[in-house]
Amino acid sequence: MDLFLDTASVQEVRQGAETGLISGVTTNPSLALKAGGDYNDVLKEICSIVKGPVSAETVSLDADGMVKEGVAFSKIAKNIVVKVPMTVEGMKACQRLTRKDIKVNVTLCFSPNQALLAAKSGAFIVSPFVGRLDDIGEVGMNLIKDIRLIYNNYKFTTQILVASIRNPIHVLEAAKIGADIATMPYSVFEQLFKHSLTDVGIKRFLEDWEKVLKRK
Ligand code: G3P
Repeated sequence: MDLFLDTASVQEVRQGAETGLISGVTTNPSLALKAGGDYNDVLKEICSIVKGPVSAETVSLDADGMVKEGVAFSKIAKNIVVKVPMTVEGMKACQRLTRKDIKVNVTLCFSPNQALLAAKSGAFIVSPFVGRLDDIGEVGMNLIKDIRLIYNNYKFTTQILVASIRNPIHVLEAAKIGADIATMPYSVFEQLFKHSLTDVGIKRFLEDWEKVLKRK
């Protein structure tokens, strides 16, 4: 499973890339607002740091507008993936952009049928939002299980990108189900490295090594 950062912060992307474990980035208007700066400039910089897919989100509500925005985004860098929403207009835009060889990430996916439509529209990536489903009392991960089953049944190549990840358990569950990608805030990525026994183990080894040195 590939690990992406869900951020528009160039600094976080740089830190993530330095670990050698981050293979892509997802952004959206809310993350762009949080990060500040010109969205296109930020995308350009992120694309120069991470070689894998970098998602840029359109804001038009009609297919013509989404295609226009998508074509403009695609000129920023080769690794740009255009995000369109899971709507009728979004699916029209997805098909049109795909025909132009521009990769599309269908976002705001909350049901298996929506994911089926995204795959049939030629989406490169579909983004089911697990955290937001949990927020309304549903089990977000059930959606990932259903999409995995449907995509396997019909050998759809659309990649399942688990979005709206809030904690390491979401990452673990996504990996167990066989999602293709998990995108997460930098804070969650940091948590993946940690275990209290690792810290205790390092401390104990260092203490014992000090004793070994003193013995000489
Ligand atoms: O990239 C979109 C998604 O990850 C948003 O997450 O936490 O705002 O639901 P969240």
